[in-house]
Amino acid sequence: MHLRLAAVLSLALQAGNTLFAAASKCSPTEPAPFSTFPRRVIYDPPAGARASYPRHAELRDGTLLVTSTVMGGDWPRNGAAFPVFESKDGGVTWKWISNITDQVNGWGMSAQPAIMELREPLGGFRPGTILASGNSWSNNGTRIDLYASTDKARTWKFVSHVAEGGRPNTTNGATPIWEPFLLTYNHELIVYYSDQRDPLHGQKLAHQRSKDLVNWGPVVNDVRYDEYLARPGMTVVAEIPTIKKWILVHELPVGNSSSHGVNYPVYYRLADKPTEFDSAPGIPIVIGGKVAPNASPYVVWSPSGGPNGTIVVSDADRDELYTNRFGGDPDKWEMHPCSQPSAYSRALHIFEHHPEHLMVLSGAIFDAGGPYDDLSLSVLNLTEVVSKHSDLDKFTGGVN
Ligand SMILES: *[C@@H]1O[C@H](CO)[C@@H](O)[C@H](O)[C@H]1NC(C)=O
Ligand SMILES: *[C@@H]1O[C@H](CO)[C@@H](O)[C@H](O)[C@H]1NC(C)=O
Ligand SMILES: *[C@@H]1O[C@H](CO)[C@@H](O)[C@H](O)[C@H]1NC(C)=O
Ligand SMILES: *[C@@H]1O[C@H](CO)[C@@H](O)[C@H](O)[C@H]1NC(C)=O
Ligand SMILES: *[C@@H]1O[C@H](CO)[C@@H](O)[C@H](O)[C@H]1NC(C)=O
Ligand SMILES: *[C@@H]1O[C@H](CO)[C@@H](O)[C@H](O)[C@H]1NC(C)=O
Repeated sequence: MHLRLAAVLSLALQAGNTLFAAASKCSPTEPAPFSTFPRRVIYDPPAGARASYPRHAELRDGTLLVTSTVMGGDWPRNGAAFPVFESKDGGVTWKWISNITDQVNGWGMSAQPAIMELREPLGGFRPGTILASGNSWSNNGTRIDLYASTDKARTWKFVSHVAEGGRPNTTNGATPIWEPFLLTYNHELIVYYSDQRDPLHGQKLAHQRSKDLVNWGPVVNDVRYDEYLARPGMTVVAEIPTIKKWILVHELPVGNSSSHGVNYPVYYRLADKPTEFDSAPGIPIVIGGKVAPNASPYVVWSPSGGPNGTIVVSDADRDELYTNRFGGDPDKWEMHPCSQPSAYSRALHIFEHHPEHLMVLSGAIFDAGGPYDDLSLSVLNLTEVVSKHSDLDKFTGGVN
């Protein structure tokens, strides 16, 4: 959760993409189901509203679900619900199937959704249940709540409050919580989130776990720094089975300091278990010793791309993608052009039965006035993405 300092430069960078999108709209043929294709619109919100922070789930039968925050305009009460869209053809066509609304606080589902499919029975819910979370907030507080759907995301039912913090306020010293990320591991649901409640840290990353989805265990630290001003934020976790590790990516603003020209450098940690990131060292992503991604990262892993597969990372500032085919070796990050436009908290997905197919999901950029306010996706061929390399000289001192 942050205030963007580089909005103007982002806009300049994105001007080029507008041309690209306009050209792709003229394409006369629809892509084949489950194929690769350039930017397609999932949902274009009414004038004045902006879709942002998309999240997704691929169900066991190949159905895709996408949800997002919708901010501004009168949708429906200033961003108070997460719309849910479904695709049965690998993202080519989409249907709006439900809204996840706040059923208990009277505050709305304000921002930062998370969604997944249960693949094993948990808390009395059968495999195939869809779980969703998000941040419900008002001037009285922030609540990370859990909802479940037993009818494939048509209807939703409140399950439990996971955690609660103070009113939304990104100033150090305030006590809100933000940005849930859901993962099942070892027959428990893990809810990761950003946490400003610990007086020792401006913000830290932590998680809580539950076996029954109702009773939540203690707050377990994932990322914290002795430097109070450090605000690690926006956890995303992925498994890297080839090296039996888990990767957590996050942004790391520290006061107003900058690193390789960016204020929200992207860091990662590798741990044997997704519950043990606290003791793992934090590593910054730096490409070619000089270019660093900035803010709201996402990470996925694909078995495609060699013996260690491919770790793929995105950030908020650039269209480009960052990859690592060497099990997260800090010196082996690469940077590649990507046709899907940059956005605040863009999301990535590798299709379960098409490990070469990379979905990149975008909404709006953080600040109003960006080139896109809609929710869109591209499905790219990862092998082709990785085969093209960005000219790093073009980015030196470029973005921030
Ligand atoms: C979701 O909510 C919006 C705004 O209230 C409404 O227009 C739309 O019909 C709803 N969609 C579904 C599928 O419930
Ligand atoms: C906030 O809390 C106060 C005091 O309990 C209550 O009167 C008010 O209705 C609450 N507002 C919201 C939006 O929950
Ligand atoms: C935000 O938090 C800071 C630090 O606690 C506090 O000084 C400020 O009054 C808060 N702002 C709002 C609007 O609550
Ligand atoms: C960052 O810079 C702004 C503007 O100069 C200043 O108001 C703010 O206090 C600084 N924040 C930190 C954490 O140093
Ligand atoms: C795979 O990753 C591990 C861990 O970084 C590394 O030791 C090994 O050399 C890598 N193998 C290949 C072929 O990249
Ligand atoms: C991806 O691109 C590579 C290189 O052009 C090609 O060999 C491969 O068949 C493509 N894969 C898919 C799934 O389209």
